Amino acid sequence: MKNLSITTASKNYSVLVGNDLFSTKNFQEFNGKEILLVVDSNIGESARKLISQLLNDLSTKFIEIQIEANEKNKSNHSLGQIHDELISHNFSRDCILFALGGGIVCDLTGFAAATYQRGVEFVLLPSTLLSQVDASVGGKTAINHPKGKNMIGAFHQPSKVLSDTSLLKSLNERQVREGLAEIVKHSLIIDEGFFDWLSENIDQLIATNEEKLLEAVAKSIEVKAKIVEKDETEQGIRKWLNLGHTFGHAIELYGEYLDYSHGESVALGMIMATNLSISILNLDEEQGKKIKTLISLILTEEMLKTEFDGEKLFQLMSSDKKREGDKLNFILLNEIGEPKIVSGLEKADILKAIKIS
Ligand code: GLY
Repeated sequence: MKNLSITTASKNYSVLVGNDLFSTKNFQEFNGKEILLVVDSNIGESARKLISQLLNDLSTKFIEIQIEANEKNKSNHSLGQIHDELISHNFSRDCILFALGGGIVCDLTGFAAATYQRGVEFVLLPSTLLSQVDASVGGKTAINHPKGKNMIGAFHQPSKVLSDTSLLKSLNERQVREGLAEIVKHSLIIDEGFFDWLSENIDQLIATNEEKLLEAVAKSIEVKAKIVEKDETEQGIRKWLNLGHTFGHAIELYGEYLDYSHGESVALGMIMATNLSISILNLDEEQGKKIKTLISLILTEEMLKTEFDGEKLFQLMSSDKKREGDKLNFILLNEIGEPKIVSGLEKADILKAIKIS
């Protein structure tokens, strides 16, 4: 088990990463609290029962609600459901919310905690590889608006995070690949040694080897922590975490949120960002090849054959940005471990980068 400590401008908290974390000793500090548990409908019954029992035994008042986890339900309506439970059961400002689930339930519960009585505590029990390495750290909480993802939210750090890797056994292959894309992204931003380790161990990671996954999750959280500790509210270097996202968001739209998951879109977007880094910055061809080889291993063959309509993707990128009233920004790489924020690029250079090779 690893105990990582996160220190941001607003809060210090621990992230435990291990394969047997759901025992009384890791919850003891919440003894005597009023607790509301929000459970993702995808959680297996045995894990749900175990957590529910542990929290029920500790708390003075315990309520559990289930949310069917999909982007449509990351909504004002679901937020209202959580608030309604808290208010109708007279939860005080001293209560604590727990989220057991993937990124949608973690972000939603975090935002419910950020807004109930101007902010109460929350604890995350992330259940997918993606949420264990992303939503779990850094305190970005949000719900969607019909006109845009994560449009309503707040920075609100959790009080504790328990990333139990035994929950990852039930993930399907697509969910594993999605989490691995995010892990590769973290390595590319600041850690070439981690990138090389991922390249050596990628087959075992795809096969969900528990020991390797635990190491990858812990290392990935350490990388993200280094960034959010320096820039909690994304004024500068936290933007590096958007590597692959300018292309990636457009790819999600291109596939109407069905053909490509967020992680797959970011992985494809990172290949395009690598192409652009080779042509615009000094990224060396050999390093570029290493990056694209590793990313290709976490995508399906079918996906790697996609031929994107460059004009269409470019239009989607531009319309996504217009909402923010901003120019197209890209996070590119001078080399592995050295990102650079770039804007004002020529359309022709962007179009040339839109290929999966
Ligand atoms: N998912 C990117 C961030 O937390 O900043």
